[in-house]
Amino acid sequence: MKKGVIFDLDGVLLSTDDMHYAAWKSIADELGIPFDRQINNRLRGVSRMESLEIILSQSSRVFSPEEKLALAERKNERYRALLQGLTPAAVAPEVRDTLSALRARGRKLAVGSSSKNTRLILKLTGLDSCFDAVSDGTNITRSKPDPEVFLKAADFLGLAPADCAVIEDAVAGIDAARAGGFLSIGIGDAAAYEKTDRSIRSLSELLEIV
Ligand code: G6P
Ligand code: MG
Repeated sequence: MKKGVIFDLDGVLLSTDDMHYAAWKSIADELGIPFDRQINNRLRGVSRMESLEIILSQSSRVFSPEEKLALAERKNERYRALLQGLTPAAVAPEVRDTLSALRARGRKLAVGSSSKNTRLILKLTGLDSCFDAVSDGTNITRSKPDPEVFLKAADFLGLAPADCAVIEDAVAGIDAARAGGFLSIGIGDAAAYEKTDRSIRSLSELLEIV
């Protein structure tokens, strides 16, 4: 039994993949850089600036640090405009039911996400009341696969990593969980990752593990 459960946000509690894709695609198109869904999949769990580096690596043009910051900012404005369309309906009933059941069992719940838009997404979907703590892109200096975001989440919950499970859909997130000493549980793409401690096909299966 684990006292705490830490959830990655994007790809675990809901998916804003299409919005990230549309925002990055518009930037890439303006620059004439090839960008498709396959490249977008590589950006899962990766920070905004690292995502930009991956996109720009498809171009031979050299961008200054100022140009990169401006591009990342432009992408974020477009992404945030798209996020405004999010409603509580973006979260599957199974996700809400699983969170409620875990809370009813006395588990402490946290979010551990690289996104600096985490609080906005939680508010728009009404998930903000479901968690005891939030650790996100605004309180870390190192991205996954560094364990910092999850170590902070455990700290915010007042629990040791060994007492917490981490649920992730990204390989970098599973690596981060393992590096931090957490039980790693993979869902989606990460369910097939050989380093994942446990794999689930849907979130309610968590109730059989934690
Ligand atoms: C999550 C998503 C990534 C995204 C990152 C940063 O980890 O899976 O695709 O790049 O957050 O998001 P942000 O909202 O800070 O740009
Ligand atoms: Mg994710």
